[in-house]
Amino acid sequence: MRSIVVTGTDTGVGKTTVAAALARSLRSKGINVGVMKPFAASKERYSVKYRSEDTAILAKAAGVDDYDHEINPFFYSLPAAPFVAASITKEIPITIMGAVSSLEKLKTKHDFLIIEGIGGLMVPLTEKETFADFARVLNAPMIVVASCKIGILNHILLTLHVSRNYGLRVAGLVLNSFPCRPSVIDRQLVDAVRRFCDIESIFTIPRLRRERQSQLELDDKILDKILAF
Ligand SMILES: Nc1ncnc2c1ncn2[C@@H]1O[C@H](COP(=O)(O)OP(=O)(O)O)[C@@H](O)[C@H]1O
Ligand SMILES: [Mg+2]
Repeated sequence: MRSIVVTGTDTGVGKTTVAAALARSLRSKGINVGVMKPFAASKERYSVKYRSEDTAILAKAAGVDDYDHEINPFFYSLPAAPFVAASITKEIPITIMGAVSSLEKLKTKHDFLIIEGIGGLMVPLTEKETFADFARVLNAPMIVVASCKIGILNHILLTLHVSRNYGLRVAGLVLNSFPCRPSVIDRQLVDAVRRFCDIESIFTIPRLRRERQSQLELDDKILDKILAF
């Protein structure tokens, strides 16, 4: 069994988009891929079947019919860090062992599991633990997603610094929403990221229209590198 964590430098950087693209790519290779969004928070319920939109997008990309609570065991009805949301809404608080146990159950149904994080690595899940603590327990390789906007280098380096401190292994770094017509700064960015980050697999995903995002698959070469990590 193999699994991978898709984390990011922040919320809204493209974790779901990349995790879904990875799920589609593995699925089109005939792999029985499962998806998990262990922790989600949103003001409104997304649909009758899925509380979180991320869960719906991931399930569709992987073509799975797992129950909402299997894919997303912890949901909070306030768009905030789970620990903060739970303390306000009084919904069931996260325990890392509870999340791990849900994950172990889902793993038995699939050959490969993609786990999307929430926010960035230092998002508090419990009174004392962050997403990085959870990722450390999983001990799975991670893909870090960053969005091409000002401040990206700082956010990437902070995330990689935390990853190293927690002993988390980074299999790939995605520079998402890369402009279709890159400026001099954008072109320099890729060089700078390579210079500062000791990661073999660094790749870009272009800025795409919505319908293209929902069909996106990863390049075979990128996929092979990530899987070989
Ligand atoms: N490559 C891309 N090009 C254009 N828009 C994108 C791209 N990737 C993500 N988005 C958009 O950015 C927003 C956040 O993406 P999402 O994958 O949900 O991020 P996260 O899971 O990190 O919160 C969404 O509206 C999504 O459609
Ligand atoms: Mg998401």
